[in-house]
Amino acid sequence: MSDNIITVQEGRDDEYEKSLRPRNLKEFIGQKKFIENLKIYIEAAKKRSEPLDHILLSGPPGLGKTTLASIVAYEMNVNFKSTSAPVLEKAGDLAAILTDVQEGDIFFIDEIHRLKKNIEEILYSAMEDYSLDLIIGQGPSAKTIKINIAPFTLVGATTRSGLISSPLRARFGIHENLDFYTEDEMKLILVRSSNILDVKIEHDAANLIAKCSRGTPRVANRILKRIRDFAQIRNTGIIDLDTAKHSLERLEIDNLGLNKVDKRLLKILIENYEGGPVGAKTLAISLGEEADTIEEVYEPFLIQLGFIKRTPRGRIATKKAYLHLGLNFSTNEEKLLFES
Ligand SMILES: Nc1ncnc2c1ncn2[C@@H]1O[C@H](COP(=O)(O)OP(=O)(O)OP(=O)(O)O)[C@@H](O)[C@H]1O
Ligand SMILES: [Mg+2]
Repeated sequence: MSDNIITVQEGRDDEYEKSLRPRNLKEFIGQKKFIENLKIYIEAAKKRSEPLDHILLSGPPGLGKTTLASIVAYEMNVNFKSTSAPVLEKAGDLAAILTDVQEGDIFFIDEIHRLKKNIEEILYSAMEDYSLDLIIGQGPSAKTIKINIAPFTLVGATTRSGLISSPLRARFGIHENLDFYTEDEMKLILVRSSNILDVKIEHDAANLIAKCSRGTPRVANRILKRIRDFAQIRNTGIIDLDTAKHSLERLEIDNLGLNKVDKRLLKILIENYEGGPVGAKTLAISLGEEADTIEEVYEPFLIQLGFIKRTPRGRIATKKAYLHLGLNFSTNEEKLLFES
């Protein structure tokens, strides 16, 4: 057994051990192409003593958008100020933050596709000219005042990049759509997290969990924590293949990482709607979930697996989905070929 155990590395500092979230680029695993470019942007901005260009990060939940935003602040050696678009109600809310930023600071807005129009418009001049154009008062006596703010970097994160207006999108110099992680990268993340959580994990167990984690670090960490519980109760606290298999079964996660909701979604699509096409809203109602959750959380992974396709007329299930669920595909074959 000992040969199979991935050994815990020495020399981690205490701070690092406390959190699973990577704090700097060295600790960040995956997204290689973007990280290589980001390193250059950071180095160049530092060399010029300028703030980094504004960055828009998009992609499904749990892939590391917030993590990357805070890493950029760490690497640039500046403050990290963070908020979420729904929190910014009034112009004053935004002004309060932006008048407080220091040169080069990172201002992170999560869920940036949910910005209110009035806030978004103020952000335009803030991003472009580092100035705030605020309207004071109402009616004929209203006047506009201009306040200069320190040059800063806006990092926006979104799970729905399609909902971002073009004027806002155009003001970001750097766009990145984060990809699902490969199985190899997921394994490295799991090993790193196991080290931090101080639980031993065997190679084949790590391989299995990596395969079942939807290419998503947050999912991997969540599964790992649960499996650690099972390992501690079942045996010596080591995560071996048997414990991993047993735990994944108990968590109702299958060999491709599909959970109960994914399977219900596919079954409803296939059995209630003959494989589609069906609109996202209709599907959401049948499933009892929010349409947004389906589009942001479940669909991207099912599309990545090639189980569903988005067509102008709605979602359709592919042959792969039928086969994975053990359902007969033949009656629908003709229609699906026609649809795709
Ligand atoms: N590249 C990575 N290497 C290791 N761990 C990672 C990586 N990316 C993310 N994680 C882990 O996954 C967790 C989720 O990441 P994060 O919160 O940054 O995702 P997100 O994209 O902001 O999600 P959301 O859209 O839900 O806000 C982090 O707390 C961190 O522990
Ligand atoms: Mg986030």
